[in-house]
Amino acid sequence: MEKKKWWQKAVFYQIYPRSFADSNNNGIGDLQGVIERLDYLQELGIDAIWFSPFFSSPQKDFGYDISDYRTIDPGYGTMKDFEELLEKAHSLDIKIILDMVLNHTSDEHPWFLESRSNTTNPKRDWYIWRKGRGKKQDKPPNNWRAVFGGNAWKWDKYTQEYFFHQFLPFQPDLNWRNSAVQEEMLETVRFWVEKGVDGFRLDIIHTLFEDKDFRDNPRSWRLLPSSDSTAYLFQNPKYTAFLPETINMCIHIRSLIDSYVPERMVVGEVMGGPRIFRPLYGENNNGLNLVFNFKFSDQSFSAKKFFQVIQETESILSDPYWPCYVFSNHDKTRMISRVGNNEKKAKLLTLLLLTVRGTPFIYYGEEIGMHQGKIPKEALKDPLAKLKVMGIPIGKFLGRDGCRTPMQWDNSSGNAGFSPKLDTIPWLPISTNSDVINVENQKNDEKSMLSYFKQLIHLRKSENALCEGKLLNLSIPCKNCLTFERLGYQEGKLVALLVIFNFNNKLIQIQNPYPSSTIIFSTESLNLLSSTTDNITIQAYEGLLTKFSFESVS
Ligand code: GLC
Repeated sequence: MEKKKWWQKAVFYQIYPRSFADSNNNGIGDLQGVIERLDYLQELGIDAIWFSPFFSSPQKDFGYDISDYRTIDPGYGTMKDFEELLEKAHSLDIKIILDMVLNHTSDEHPWFLESRSNTTNPKRDWYIWRKGRGKKQDKPPNNWRAVFGGNAWKWDKYTQEYFFHQFLPFQPDLNWRNSAVQEEMLETVRFWVEKGVDGFRLDIIHTLFEDKDFRDNPRSWRLLPSSDSTAYLFQNPKYTAFLPETINMCIHIRSLIDSYVPERMVVGEVMGGPRIFRPLYGENNNGLNLVFNFKFSDQSFSAKKFFQVIQETESILSDPYWPCYVFSNHDKTRMISRVGNNEKKAKLLTLLLLTVRGTPFIYYGEEIGMHQGKIPKEALKDPLAKLKVMGIPIGKFLGRDGCRTPMQWDNSSGNAGFSPKLDTIPWLPISTNSDVINVENQKNDEKSMLSYFKQLIHLRKSENALCEGKLLNLSIPCKNCLTFERLGYQEGKLVALLVIFNFNNKLIQIQNPYPSSTIIFSTESLNLLSSTTDNITIQAYEGLLTKFSFESVS
């Protein structure tokens, strides 16, 4: 079996910098706050951190609207803070990957200000400008829709043309057909690699290029995007997503980062499932190292649903391709809240995330079971929460503030230890249950979610089959129960780990393919080391891991 790379074996942890830890009492998380908490992350056992953007930005989309790609936003700290963070993380054996928003900039980026200043400015072509259609040239150039609703073209009254924005109107798309744009953005990637970062998460990378002839997108019946389709708002983005030029650029970016030692990685954020995004991995596995598969986060709590996702993923991303699963992030309702804030169910799904073949990403707060926050209307911050389409306030379904509430460190009243001073008011309200769900309460409690995460991450590291092994015998042995095996070598012996997930709210029994194997982990009682017999009994919502070592090595 080929040795796997660090990014295949690693457990990643996403930090949303604004919400993680505030060191200077301004109610906003910052880099020094993260530095103070690195020991906590090391103890948790994670191997790498993905930071949502902390570059200079007007923060209209909280960092996904960048106005300078090579400086740190003063709200989060300085370049010196970043260098200190990187050095300390590396000394603790934690890698750092940054969020690169290559598709668009802020409308306050100096390039865009120049670009919109007049039609002959040298930066004009750095963005996508078109004349309007119709006699009066007052209709948008074509039918392209923005992902977050409405037309993707915004009229600019100064230069009397439209500019293209695939996301929010203050996020104008860069023109990737302009070679100066390409050079500048790739130079930015080099800049951060040379600072020592270990890789990048590439924001909505599938939308980098658009059709050069600006053809209308075909219609679709789909209103909302899902992991089965990229269509949304009744349009199939045939000419605005997954273009061959985008795939080639992914391959190019991979070759750029591969020219550095030690090995770096890139993980892409895209819309759609494995069938749709597989080309971004490159035909010879020479594109993005990983692409987020959001299918886990779309499923109801059902063995059959997860069976289907894993089966599809395994068939499309078979060796040497490597999947990358995720349940939660800064754009999605927290996983535990999608299963009714039921800890048992969340533990079962976490077992799935950390035992399935692929690289897992955990979202800050997931390890203590933080719930989706309920944000009063007047405290909403996310621009999506305020969106209206055709006068309809769709924002309440799209708003992402609830998954971005400040990390709950302890039960001090005020701000749950997010800021040093108790009376500092955080940028988003702290969840009301922070006196119960917090790091301090959980760290010495063996049965807590935090202890569960730690044990599971450590188990994953000690069992080679979980990090590197093949996934075999995916099955549903009885109704609403899922099993698969991970097969790998450990100390010269072939080892089979059988993972069993009981999605039922009642006890079940299944036949044991490896009688006399040992139960090495359970979501219900940790450190359970009994031997199994011909049948295995599994409690309601329980997940189990059994281990069997074959005597001879082939
Ligand atoms: C990505 C980010 C999201 C952001 C959008 C536009 O989907 O995850 O937070 O709003 O891109 O940049």
